[in-house]
Amino acid sequence: MHPRKTCSSNTTLLFHLIHSTRLALSWTGTGELVYKAIVVPLIQTPRLILRGLGEDDIPFLFEHFGKNEINEYSADDNVKSLEEAKQLYVKYIAPTVNRFRLGLVLDGDLIGTVGFYGIDYENERAIVGADLMKEYWGRGLMTEALQALVDYGFEQMNLNRIEATSDPGNLRSIRLIERCGFRKEGLLRQRFYYKAAFHDDVMFSILKDDWRATRKSRPHLQK
Ligand SMILES: CC(C)(COP(=O)(O)OP(=O)(O)OC[C@H]1O[C@@H](n2cnc3c(N)ncnc32)[C@H](O)[C@@H]1OP(=O)(O)O)[C@@H](O)C(=O)NCCC(=O)NCCS
Repeated sequence: MHPRKTCSSNTTLLFHLIHSTRLALSWTGTGELVYKAIVVPLIQTPRLILRGLGEDDIPFLFEHFGKNEINEYSADDNVKSLEEAKQLYVKYIAPTVNRFRLGLVLDGDLIGTVGFYGIDYENERAIVGADLMKEYWGRGLMTEALQALVDYGFEQMNLNRIEATSDPGNLRSIRLIERCGFRKEGLLRQRFYYKAAFHDDVMFSILKDDWRATRKSRPHLQK
């Protein structure tokens, strides 16, 4: 093996580890110091690679979150500049102890994002978020990505409950969530105020027990 290549790949691995793990310290009520780390995974699915997003991806975020169809059911306005994309990266994408977001890579190109936010270690739950460039809708790509993320959440993060929420009018989103085995729990009325109106929110969840049953209908995944 070429020594320089070995050195370079070790450096890359170290860089990846440093940048894919965030540590947080907190004191418990009894005075114990708790270390928590978030690992940003690298996941391969039949058609996609799901990888952590870094500052180099801000131009993609600018293009992606600048589109009406991505923000139609979101409280956020379209991103209008690289500076706004950087702010979005810091606010929603960069990993923290309670969230991580992965880019969907298809044939070398970023085409969307998926991830967990609101990770609650005490109650072993998290919320999913997902968005895909419109030209890739209708091919089952986000279903593939979301199922892989849910598998990761239950298998590797020891979650017990994963939540998804959607505007009731966002029918593609609702079909995606239900296709991935989430169950509707209820309508949270006028939960959000944005774009000069109150918006209802539909709450869905999948429990670890539901997921075990769902996996039986995905025989290629059974261990
Ligand atoms: C929500 C969003 C990701 C869904 O995109 P999508 O393309 O409908 O979802 P998928 O990539 O999983 O594709 C599923 C569609 O492809 C079809 N499909 C084709 N091949 C498929 C396959 N192999 N497996 C599964 N579905 C397949 C499905 O029938 C489905 O179409 P349908 O809903 O009309 O029946 C997309 O609309 C989006 O990014 N919206 C903007 C952001 C947003 O609102 N996010 C909220 C998410 S909570």
